[in-house]
Amino acid sequence: MKYYILFGPPGAGKGTQAGSIAKKYNLTHVSTGALLRAEIAAGTELGKQAKTLIDAGNFVPDAVVEGMLEGLFASAKDTAGFLLDGFPRNLSQAEDLDVILQKKGEKVDGVISIMIPDAVIAERITHRAAIEGRADDADPEVIQNRIQTYHKKTEPLIQFYDNQGKYHQADGVGTIDEVHNRLSELMDHLS
Ligand code: AP5
Ligand code: MG
Repeated sequence: MKYYILFGPPGAGKGTQAGSIAKKYNLTHVSTGALLRAEIAAGTELGKQAKTLIDAGNFVPDAVVEGMLEGLFASAKDTAGFLLDGFPRNLSQAEDLDVILQKKGEKVDGVISIMIPDAVIAERITHRAAIEGRADDADPEVIQNRIQTYHKKTEPLIQFYDNQGKYHQADGVGTIDEVHNRLSELMDHLS
């Protein structure tokens, strides 16, 4: 089983690109954000606890997200592997992911990153707010909190994976097709 991480700041285009990349390489796309939003929509206890944190642009506790992922990994069928979108998001999640995978005799096979400047992040998320109606897209302060949290907590993972020779970056500015082609090129080298 292969384990790839689709990395990048909020609004970079991870969700937009994940479907076509997952399909092309027979991977299962897992967005922790989408899983959490589904819990909120279903009104589960987990969803109720996550909603306040997500709506403010703050992280949900590591154990909650990791528990959801472990369950999914265990039930994997008919797939070449996983394309993780929105996870890991801080150093402890990255370290925990290594432990989770080591227990299965597996590892992270590569990180492909979509990179865009902060000004483009804000522009894209503000535009998406009108289309998808995500509560965490509606408030400029929440968007800024997500961007700052990304720089502080998530960006250090670039060094973490680069040190292991696993980090590969694509420019996320351009059309959706252009970005798809850049990511495909990186995936072709990895798979
Ligand atoms: P999550 O759902 O992961 O949100 P995010 O990281 O903020 O990322 P986005 O979904 O906003 O961005 P994206 O890269 O998917 O962009 P998209 O393709 O939509 O997480 C939400 C929350 O859940 C977190 O804040 C946190 O609270 C919690 N959470 C999730 N994972 C967690 C974890 N591991 N630990 C703890 N908490 C966690 O694109 C954005 C817009 O741009 C779209 O409108 C799209 O149409 C447009 N667009 C895309 N590509 C292009 C292009 N090339 N040109 C023009 N427009 C484009
Ligand atoms: Mg997304």
